[in-house]
Amino acid sequence: MKITKITGIGHYVPENVVTNADMEKIMDTSDEWITTRTGIKERRHVVDETTSDLGVKAAEKALIMARIDPKDIDLIIFSTISSDHYFPGCATQIQDRMGMKNIGAFDLKAACSGFIYGLSVADQFIKSGVHERILLVGAEAQSVAIKFDSEHRDLAVLFGDGAGAVVLQPSDDDTGVLSTHLHSDGSHVEDLWMPAPGSSFRPFISKEIIDDEMHIPYMNGREVFKNASIRFPEVIQEALKHNNLALEDIKLIIPHQANLRISQMVAKRLGVALEKIYSNIHRYGNTTAASIPIAMSEALDEGKFSQGDTIILAAFGSGFTWASAAIKW
Ligand code: COA
Repeated sequence: MKITKITGIGHYVPENVVTNADMEKIMDTSDEWITTRTGIKERRHVVDETTSDLGVKAAEKALIMARIDPKDIDLIIFSTISSDHYFPGCATQIQDRMGMKNIGAFDLKAACSGFIYGLSVADQFIKSGVHERILLVGAEAQSVAIKFDSEHRDLAVLFGDGAGAVVLQPSDDDTGVLSTHLHSDGSHVEDLWMPAPGSSFRPFISKEIIDDEMHIPYMNGREVFKNASIRFPEVIQEALKHNNLALEDIKLIIPHQANLRISQMVAKRLGVALEKIYSNIHRYGNTTAASIPIAMSEALDEGKFSQGDTIILAAFGSGFTWASAAIKW
């Protein structure tokens, strides 16, 4: 059975940089509060781009690196919680825009764990021989749904927009995805969610929904922090154990960029140096399903890992969901 290899990777972020100083101008916050609580200095916000626009730009780069013509891709998985429309998803839009054949294309909604969930799904298709050239995109334009005022300052400063993409193919050797592990705990649905629009509401859209701000994301920051600090190390250890690996065997851990303080807590709980846990959250904030492929793409460009190195991806987010993947590059 062939294992799944990442043969191309790319990322794209919108040009519009929103610094902590910009946030200070529109809400009661400070660079000092944001930096010490989250590690974020700036993030990118779309101006007139959509999630699929971002996804196309990241996907083009991944395809160039993989030297694959869009017409040869045989499945698209698009992980996002901020698709251009309520339905259909972004995957079919990029199928058409990138000139791909009439292949399968679907969106996957697993929030901040969406990229690893997508990687796991793609891995099953490749290992089973059903598909051979899969495009997996993680992209978000979530600033569009957030309210930028003092009342919503906890979420407003945290999230950013961007996209990352990978091309997945059967490996010719023993390098590639070694394992993926997926988890969820739906008892925490309301700790990080955007309740509307949805089938819970009659009528589907109403003045009440808007007045009660059910269409704006809500986060119970402390509960998220508490659970993330436990689940990240747990799911990283699960990946190590499954592959008979020790932390010393891992070149780099690339976590979903939720918050620098969460990464610091994970480093402490695992007993590893913070340098082993990749971070670019100071530049982009939390980009949900896009954060891992953006981070992986930048870490590769920066030479933080290279051929033959083993890395671990780990994610935690809304649902709650959490996941990990071990990859021999
Ligand atoms: N600027 C200034 N003050 C802010 C603020 C902001 N952007 N956001 C919240 N505050 C205020 C709160 O209103 C609160 O004020 P109060 O004491 O007057 O009520 C105060 O800061 C402290 O709030 P608290 O919740 O105790 O802060 P905290 O130390 O827990 O940090 C988070 C808040 C959001 C940074 C933290 O809970 C966190 O990182 N949670 C995880 C978030 C996350 O990673 N989410 C994504 C997961 S995928």
